[in-house]
Amino acid sequence: MIIDIIRKKACNYELTKEELETIFNGYLTGFVKDYQMSAFLMAICINDMSDSEIFALTDIFIKSGDTLDLSSIPSIKVDKHSTGGVGDKTTLIVAPLVASCNVPVIKMSGRGLGYTGGTIDKLESIPSFRVDLSEEEIIKQAQEIGLVITSQTKNLAPLDKKIYALRDVTATTNSIPLIASSIMSKKIAAGTDKIIIDIKVGDGALIKTNNEAERLSSLLIKIGTYYQKEVRTIISPMDQPLGYNIGNKLEVIEALNVLDNKEAGPLLDLCLDLASNMIAMGLNISLEKARELALTNLKNGKAKEKFYELVKYQGGDLTKLTIDAKQYNIKANKSGVLKNIDALLIAKLSQNLGAGRKNKEDKIDYNAGIVIKKDIGSKVEEGDILAYLYTNLDIKDFDINGIFEIS
Ligand code: URA
Repeated sequence: MIIDIIRKKACNYELTKEELETIFNGYLTGFVKDYQMSAFLMAICINDMSDSEIFALTDIFIKSGDTLDLSSIPSIKVDKHSTGGVGDKTTLIVAPLVASCNVPVIKMSGRGLGYTGGTIDKLESIPSFRVDLSEEEIIKQAQEIGLVITSQTKNLAPLDKKIYALRDVTATTNSIPLIASSIMSKKIAAGTDKIIIDIKVGDGALIKTNNEAERLSSLLIKIGTYYQKEVRTIISPMDQPLGYNIGNKLEVIEALNVLDNKEAGPLLDLCLDLASNMIAMGLNISLEKARELALTNLKNGKAKEKFYELVKYQGGDLTKLTIDAKQYNIKANKSGVLKNIDALLIAKLSQNLGAGRKNKEDKIDYNAGIVIKKDIGSKVEEGDILAYLYTNLDIKDFDINGIFEIS
């Protein structure tokens, strides 16, 4: 029976919902083995899925676990998701900015496994910050301050979690239908009303081409429509790191700089685009009006105040946000123009400094990371500092080959 379902997909026939339930629910219970699911996922990667198969799979993922009931929070709740990028600390900026405009944000985030930490790792780098709120605490905090960022408490889409772990080790992460159902099942189970999804495209991202990003965008919107949830998407580049800091505590520090109006550039621009869309959806207003509100609350300090309120409510102590690691300078080996900073290579370097996990069990060094000191397109002289590296590991040589392109 299972083998027939695998064969059917391998021969590029459309599967019924019952067949998908049989194989996926069987995997959750252990009846379907890793090797069978691996073959099946590869068949999906090669032969794709129809829209009705994708809707069915999303539904199977959602029903594999619990859903959060946020109906006791009266306003429209808006959530945000990013497909993942290097130096992506947008949630730390966007969530308080949107909440400061009276749109409640209840965000369940994850830890990172790839090269860099996830939002939860970044927040945990703030001493004493609690990321393990119960459902009651989430609701109370949302009602009182309109902003919560916590790790997934409930058993949300556990089947997606199990499948994702297998995809990670079977070269099946970049299937667009699998990505679409994975993202949407978690967002729908998390109970928000409207969702913005930042689709990253480029060398440092899961999605490498604009065509794939466009397809993913249209699928996410279709799945949202099926569940009566408004979904908007932004397609943003990930060939270079986002902002200047990479590494958990360093990214919190940079987020605070942005909230303090001390940094302009691509990171701020993307945050304003994301926040404006969330505010527009939450308050049912135009994008232009929403952008004005976002800019006002950034400039008058309300967004930053909201971040402080969040940290205080979740027990964190921002007075202890100092980098406790050895600092090394990376200098330019020639003069010229800084043409590129390779996102993927710099992410690997930050992982080697201790800022990311290689295995699920690894402990992250919150102090480790990189601060980029030069903008792409700027002139550099031989010997100029390109970046500071921070690590507590005993590293003799840093592999920076190919990261900074000067010509
Ligand atoms: N993010 C997810 O949650 N799932 C994917 O499959 C890819 C990115």
